[in-house]
Amino acid sequence: MSEQTIALVTGANKGIGYEIAAGLGALGWRVGVGARDAQRRDTAVDKLRAAGVDAFGVPLDVTDDASVAAAAELIADRAGGLDVLVNNAAITGGMPQAPTTVAPATVRDVVDTNVIGVIRVTNAMLPMLRASASPRIVNMSSTVGSLTLQSTPGAETGPISAAYAVSKSLLNAVTIQYVKELGDTNILINSGCPGFTATDLNGFRGIRTPQQGAAIAIHLATLPDDGPTGGFFDDAGTVPW
Ligand SMILES: NC(=O)c1ccc[n+]([C@@H]2O[C@H](COP(=O)([O-])OP(=O)(O)OC[C@H]3O[C@@H](n4cnc5c(N)ncnc54)[C@H](OP(=O)(O)O)[C@@H]3O)[C@@H](O)[C@H]2O)c1
Repeated sequence: MSEQTIALVTGANKGIGYEIAAGLGALGWRVGVGARDAQRRDTAVDKLRAAGVDAFGVPLDVTDDASVAAAAELIADRAGGLDVLVNNAAITGGMPQAPTTVAPATVRDVVDTNVIGVIRVTNAMLPMLRASASPRIVNMSSTVGSLTLQSTPGAETGPISAAYAVSKSLLNAVTIQYVKELGDTNILINSGCPGFTATDLNGFRGIRTPQQGAAIAIHLATLPDDGPTGGFFDDAGTVPW
């Protein structure tokens, strides 16, 4: 494998994912821009390359087995391997999402993207990550997925949400299982929360910039070999599960 660190960021065409790609690219890394829409992907890649990032487009729909398998092949061909995977792509499914009225299909679609998509992409990329000297997996979660905070009176956990928040709790649970299985390897696996960030995801109501939101993922993607694994972090430190 080349000396250059290779990263894949899913959902990197906009929002926090784009800024994660920009931040990792600024370190001199080669960055795969995972995105499902060709035009949005090309626009993002062009913008990153214009900013000096060694970016390449990776067609990727995280809900599609064939798309994910093809993405792994493309990365192997184009970059020769993968060191860092940032599972960033997600949807909310739209609000409101009260458990008593939510459409079951909404829950299924959100879990398919936010949880099963992460499993699908991670497992497809794992052979390349296993071959890396310093592999990292960063799962973009949210404090709304914290069962501890959700059950703490007065804690800020956003609107009642039977699909999005639940999907992030499930993602956290999945992350822990990966850590249990891969804990004796050199792969550092952590969850990050970007904070309430102004993006399409929330109609740009967030109070942080996408660049600020990207900081925790960049931190977790660049951990030293003796860095933590199996943690849940935001910019302020550890987030309770
Ligand atoms: N914004 C916040 O306040 C906040 C807070 C906590 C956690 N987060 C988490 O941070 C991450 C980034 O969110 P964001 O705010 O940057 O959201 P965003 O602007 O809506 O971007 C989401 C990205 O995911 C992509 N995506 C969605 N479904 C996909 C699929 N099936 N296959 C491939 N890509 C797909 C989108 O692509 P398209 O352009 O094609 O739709 C887009 O690139 C998410 O995991 C989110 O849950 C965000």
